[in-house]
Amino acid sequence: MHHGRDLERLKGAKLDRAVMLRVWKFVRRYHTQVYLYLAVVAVSSAIAVLPPLVFRALIDDAIPSENLGAVTALAVVALLLSLGSAGLSLVGGMMAVRVGEGLIYDLRSALYDHVQRMPIAFFTRTQTGALISRLNNDVVGAQQAVTSTLSTTVSSTMGVAFTLVTMLYLDWRITLFALALVPVYLLVSRRVGRVVQKIARRQMEMNARMNAVMTERFNVSGALLVKLFGRPDDEASQFSLRAGEVRDAGIRRSLVSRTFAVALTAIAAAGTAGLYLFGGRAVVLGTLSIGTVVAFAAYLQQLYSPISALSTTRVDILSALVSFERVFEVLDTPLAISDSPGAVALETPRGRVEVDDVWFRYPAAAGYTVASLEAEGLAGAGSEASDWVLRGVSLVAEPGTMTALVGPSGAGKTTFSHLIARLYDVTSGAIRIDGQDLRRLRMQSLADSIAVVSQDAHLFHDTIAANLRYARPGATHEAIVAACRSARIHDLIAALPDGYDTVVGERGYRMSGGEKQRIAIARVLLKAPAIVILDEATAHLDYQSEAQIQRALALALEGRTSIVIAHRLSTIRAADQILVLDQGRVAQRGTHEELLREGGVYASLYKTQFAAQAPQGPVGTAAS
Ligand SMILES: Nc1ncnc2c1ncn2[C@@H]1O[C@H](COP(=O)(O)OP(=O)(O)OP(=O)(O)O)[C@@H](O)[C@H]1O
Ligand SMILES: [Mg+2]
Repeated sequence: MHHGRDLERLKGAKLDRAVMLRVWKFVRRYHTQVYLYLAVVAVSSAIAVLPPLVFRALIDDAIPSENLGAVTALAVVALLLSLGSAGLSLVGGMMAVRVGEGLIYDLRSALYDHVQRMPIAFFTRTQTGALISRLNNDVVGAQQAVTSTLSTTVSSTMGVAFTLVTMLYLDWRITLFALALVPVYLLVSRRVGRVVQKIARRQMEMNARMNAVMTERFNVSGALLVKLFGRPDDEASQFSLRAGEVRDAGIRRSLVSRTFAVALTAIAAAGTAGLYLFGGRAVVLGTLSIGTVVAFAAYLQQLYSPISALSTTRVDILSALVSFERVFEVLDTPLAISDSPGAVALETPRGRVEVDDVWFRYPAAAGYTVASLEAEGLAGAGSEASDWVLRGVSLVAEPGTMTALVGPSGAGKTTFSHLIARLYDVTSGAIRIDGQDLRRLRMQSLADSIAVVSQDAHLFHDTIAANLRYARPGATHEAIVAACRSARIHDLIAALPDGYDTVVGERGYRMSGGEKQRIAIARVLLKAPAIVILDEATAHLDYQSEAQIQRALALALEGRTSIVIAHRLSTIRAADQILVLDQGRVAQRGTHEELLREGGVYASLYKTQFAAQAPQGPVGTAAS
């Protein structure tokens, strides 16, 4: 992170320009509104310079000639002009807000869409809280850049221009005097801008860190861990530390910008006093009319307040550009795994899986993740790829067959199953479905042909029915019930007070591990894919659950190609082929009987893992 900041400082103003160009690309969508807005602002600014001229005529002509009618008329005209200008600037302000809110919407949608398409490697390294903070705080910060750019910069610039022209027309000497103070304004605002930008960046980082702590601890698993280890006091002080940093940054930012505002007021006051000093003397000497001095006093306000607005705008824009940079940083991270050009779809997948000499290691973080979103202490780590996790694995799974994967812990079984679902790309070799390389397949098509049942199936915070429909959005209630009956979970759901409308997931009804797995199987049945990948639960199930899952599985896997990371004797006995993975290599392959005869890794695995299940296995006794 520090490295990145130094780099930015080096690039300085140039970087800002590049970012602003990109911002303009986002704003360009609203160009009609923007041009209309500019027109409104121009008219409103032009009108705004008129009232002082009217007052000047009133003081210098109408009053001395004692023309009461002219006094009234001029006062009314001045009022109408001011009202007209105010009304127009209201309309303009509303247009700016529309563009600003539209921009928030665009950025947020783009960011969300991009992030959810990131490869899984991104999510394993990214802190959720930091990511959410970027979608909330930074996007709003970025929007402020545009609304304040539009509504302040534009209207102020035009205001300053019109006012200056009028002032020069009235008296160039006083105008030059008034302008002498402008460099002071600019100098101060430049200084302050830098400081505020730095604080703003820090504030965003601090906020993100605080959010990260909250999202990690305030989910069920995190809260459970905190409770079970009795650490609430430590957690509270950790959090206070983060929150304290947010507080300090906030105080510093307010302090700086308030001091800045006071300094600006002081400069403006000096200008006004100076005007009356020199203007008053000129009136006494007879070189200037009173009306002109009064008009100048009004113009001074009209000149200084837009200039001070402009200088704060600069500050706002600079700090908001930080937000834009942070948003673009995420948008710029390439989608490492996405549709290749000319990717094809599988029309009617048969489900032939072919793994051809696959070597794999977990890729280096670079290119997959955003360093500033990574957990503390992780950034910079993982700059190199992992050691080989798979070393030349080959396999052919014919349509409709079951392949069991067994092997010691850490052998690479889960990794292998993830490669088939293309959560990662292979490092070398190839995986093909129906003869098509995964990398040449449309992601959607691949997702449609594969279902993965993981050990700990995740359920969204939603009703059971909605969770099931996630697998097939159009599924009828009858179809859902049928799938749940086959998955041996219907009776349990039907017995719940709200039945299929029971809200489950993190904040709802908690299903047991075995129940969740049966729900996951029901999802497979609803989706009806050509290929099923299943990571069996390691937990030793009681006979009845085991038997239920077994029957549910038999139905779910029927007629599909399945690759099962097997922990149950019944599964490996039912498999058409067994692959024994050991340290990323295929140590042995064959059927249960063949492998038992062969001895080696499989035989010892069998002794430690599977043989113990034999007496209570649903299939009966183990081969003996
Ligand atoms: N994201 C990752 N980055 C780097 N290395 C990883 C990552 N995930 C897993 N590994 C490593 O890859 C190896 C294989 O892991 P894998 O999860 O595939 O094992 P497994 O065979 O499924 O084990 P188990 O039976 O315990 O589930 C392990 O050494 C693990 O530490
Ligand atoms: Mg595993």
